[in-house]
Amino acid sequence: MNLKKLSAAALSILLTSTLALAQTGELIFSYDFESTKDGWSGRQNEKLELTGDAAHNGKQCLKVSNRQASWNGGMVKSDGLKAGHSYYFECYVMYYNSKHKTHKHQLCASYKLNGETKYVDLRTITCKSGYWYKVYATISFPNDVTDIGFYVQSLYKENNETNNDRLDIYIDDALCYEDTTVAPVEMVNPDSITSLKDYYSKYFKIGTSVSTYELSKEIATKHIKKHCNSITCENETKPDALLDQKKTQATGKVCVTINDNTKAIMDFCVENDIAFRGHTLVWYSQTPDWFFNKDFKDNGTKLNKTDMSIRLEQYVQAVFEAISSTCPNLKLYAFDVVNEAFENDGGGIRGWSNWSNIYKDESFMDSAFTYARKYAPKNCKLYYNDYNEYMTKKTDDMYNLVKRLYDNGVCDGVGMQSHLDCSYPTVDDVRTTIKKFLSIGDNIDLQVTELDITIKNNYTDKDQAALYKGLFDLYVEHADHISSVTLWGTSDGVSWRKENNQRPLLFDDSYSPKLSYFAVVHEDAPEYLTADPIKYPAPDPEPDVIGKLLSVNDEALENLKIYGKTGVVVIETANNAKVDVCIFQIDGRMVGHYTIDGYAEISLPSGVYIVDKQKIVIM
Ligand code: XIL
Repeated sequence: MNLKKLSAAALSILLTSTLALAQTGELIFSYDFESTKDGWSGRQNEKLELTGDAAHNGKQCLKVSNRQASWNGGMVKSDGLKAGHSYYFECYVMYYNSKHKTHKHQLCASYKLNGETKYVDLRTITCKSGYWYKVYATISFPNDVTDIGFYVQSLYKENNETNNDRLDIYIDDALCYEDTTVAPVEMVNPDSITSLKDYYSKYFKIGTSVSTYELSKEIATKHIKKHCNSITCENETKPDALLDQKKTQATGKVCVTINDNTKAIMDFCVENDIAFRGHTLVWYSQTPDWFFNKDFKDNGTKLNKTDMSIRLEQYVQAVFEAISSTCPNLKLYAFDVVNEAFENDGGGIRGWSNWSNIYKDESFMDSAFTYARKYAPKNCKLYYNDYNEYMTKKTDDMYNLVKRLYDNGVCDGVGMQSHLDCSYPTVDDVRTTIKKFLSIGDNIDLQVTELDITIKNNYTDKDQAALYKGLFDLYVEHADHISSVTLWGTSDGVSWRKENNQRPLLFDDSYSPKLSYFAVVHEDAPEYLTADPIKYPAPDPEPDVIGKLLSVNDEALENLKIYGKTGVVVIETANNAKVDVCIFQIDGRMVGHYTIDGYAEISLPSGVYIVDKQKIVIM
């Protein structure tokens, strides 16, 4: 490290920081923001500028303004940051807003792996308005990553952001050095891991849901071809994707069109010898209203039960015909004929659905299954599919329905969606559910159709891995009656439950295997997945460096006249000069930042204030 290159300010910070964490490697960069911000940028359309408004040390700092979202902030990149190395980064952050007393800032890092950007939250610190806080962390960047950067933002909020989440951020005295005390991460190569479909080939198919968009990414198609022998369209075979209103209105008969998006997924399955699950025919959701209305109009009167049944038959027939004519070689082995017809946790059929409103009873399901049996290819099994299937009242509702349909020969099995959480259900809950469903009949088939497990509150990746392992072991126990297990998505980044960092799948945003993946293939996970995260001491709740606002016009500041009058502080500048002045309370908290154009009276409640280094008493 060349110490001469460091400014005095950065050197002093470096020395202070060595008390916290020993510096062991080469200095990659340091910024005191007195002369340059090269290497820093926003994350969207932020404005980044050097400013004399405030400084932690010296006379300037970096100001990040025009923030449109909590995740907007100041980001630094450097050619010196290399994949497969560990780095210590620190900087000071400050904001001020007299009405918003504390604010959470987040230090993060990001990089690209397998074409996907990964965001890593390093630390969140709570700051008081007008105080500078040091925030620091060490991170190991895995091998093969690109586009490495560190950034400071407000605590990320997906929803309910306010203007306070977009306040200007001041950054000063940033530095980064290689931290050779922390071993770099040697990531597992996704190409060389065990294939899920091969591992479970004796037992059941391994499926994933997929969107057309995902098929445009090489990393995703590689992943699917390696691990999956079944695909469900995430949305592309739902009623709203298949029903063709124009054609239907023109012909007066329900028409279905396999559009390009749907066809692309089906073609992908055929090209790669992947079996296909149809999802779904009858559902309260993602089904256009016009389908239930007289003359197929957007707003019209609803059909009666008899007419709706005719329409239902036309629709079911049209779906199977459209699939076989558009994609004759598709291995269509399963279809969810009815999806989510019951209330969440028992209590019979869902009240608020066009189906139940028109039929007033469960008979739309009997009809749907009867038509599906009539028109589906012989080797395509038919399922009733639902979630919360392990909640006992709902299990009973599903059991009673499927038992009747099965006994009537129109239904082959139960689709257990399995949208789970680490906290609930347990493996034993699911075992009880499986046993109940298996008692429907000797040939009943179960499929796990939409498996994912969210991580919330204090639950960890280890909890998720344990539940995934317990479930897969349970599925293997009952493999004679479980023909496929589908995960609802390939990787956390595309999951419908990805918000709030719930990371519900076996692979992370970059399609890298997670702890849960290794649990499911009964292999030891690499250390970088099992190691506990680095714990940092909480930042000083009362930092001794208060926010210092500086004048843009030092000379004018020298000649300021400042005095207190009843209820106001008066500031006069020499020669009517324009200066920026900041007023602090005696304990260092900032009251405000004012631009004085010659003369100003600023109203203040009685008390003692510091105005540009002077103590002023206001009566
Ligand atoms: C979800 C999709 O994943 C989302 O992309 C879409 O916006 C809503 O539907 N149960 C089901 C699936 O049967 O069809 C749902 O899929 C998830 C819950």
